[in-house]
Amino acid sequence: MRYRPLGRTGLSVSELSYGAARGAIETPDEFAASIATVIDAGINLIDTAEHYDGSEEALGAALVGHDDMLVQTKHLPYADFSPESAYTGTPEGVVAAAEQSLRRLRRDRLDIFLGHGMRTAASYEQFMNDGCCEAMVKLKAQGKVRFIGISELSEADGTHEILKQAVPSGIFDVVMLTVNFLLQTAIDDILPLCRAHGVGTVVMMPLNQASAVSGLVSIDAARECIRRHIDHGNLPDAPPYTDADVLDFLKPYSIPEAALRFVLAQEIDSCCFGARTPGRVRQNLAAVDPPYLDPDRLARLRSLFGGIRWQMR
Ligand SMILES: NC(=O)c1ccc[n+]([C@@H]2O[C@H](COP(=O)([O-])OP(=O)(O)OC[C@H]3O[C@@H](n4cnc5c(N)ncnc54)[C@H](OP(=O)(O)O)[C@@H]3O)[C@@H](O)[C@H]2O)c1
Repeated sequence: MRYRPLGRTGLSVSELSYGAARGAIETPDEFAASIATVIDAGINLIDTAEHYDGSEEALGAALVGHDDMLVQTKHLPYADFSPESAYTGTPEGVVAAAEQSLRRLRRDRLDIFLGHGMRTAASYEQFMNDGCCEAMVKLKAQGKVRFIGISELSEADGTHEILKQAVPSGIFDVVMLTVNFLLQTAIDDILPLCRAHGVGTVVMMPLNQASAVSGLVSIDAARECIRRHIDHGNLPDAPPYTDADVLDFLKPYSIPEAALRFVLAQEIDSCCFGARTPGRVRQNLAAVDPPYLDPDRLARLRSLFGGIRWQMR
């Protein structure tokens, strides 16, 4: 495993990190086995959230004796995960969420605490001015949290308009954002902005939050996602996008491996993937292999898909 500096935090994070969003309740044994595999592999950063069912409690149990593992958790200041859901943030809610996360994770302090899924300019503005952001800053000053930040909701903000404001604010140490070969918008402006301001970048959805049907997990699922982009006018309804072999140039890599390699080849600090089984965790470790992806494949992915401005799943 290789490690990269996480912005200006002084933390050194594994270039692959693990997203513990799913499986804690439905498949607890596999969840625990996946965490053990993650630790064995040298991954030292795990992402969770108050609303990932059972994840914080299960992590709290699995990480006993692993105080060196870095945990990033998140508080959702919205009613739910849908792009149009109401903003519900309050300063008291921020503080209560941090305290509950500390208890569930069985930790004395949170390594990284994020406002979860910031989605509209108006709600971001509220979060910054209604005492919520101030509450996060105070938690950091009190030592309950080491570093603070926000994550975006890329289905609602494919061009990262909120991060364009948040990163230069100087308030946030870390952001969680989407970068994958079907949503490359962060590469030209947000990642350099984060570098310039010393803000750490943890990438989410490197496989485009795939389902078995659509996403960067197989040729068929990737082609389905491309088809959805075509249907929404984000890609031309013409070759090579309509060709069955449009992604054959990625061989011999599988689609998930090529997708992870694409992200690792960017100027990001850590690429956080979700995978529910130890076998999949192990498969994904194959991507940790500089230079990750050769210039020809990188350029081809950039020219084919670099114009997409909306996330489609
Ligand atoms: N707004 C936010 O803050 C936000 C939003 C989304 C995600 N996140 C965080 O980012 C993490 C990563 O994003 P994500 O999990 O949503 O999306 P992702 O990593 O892009 O994709 C995960 C999907 O890919 C599948 N998969 C993983 N490796 C595979 C492989 N080698 N072969 C085939 N399928 C594979 C997983 O299946 P199985 O699960 O069935 O193994 C899962 O369905 C999350 O876990 C979460 O911690 C944050």
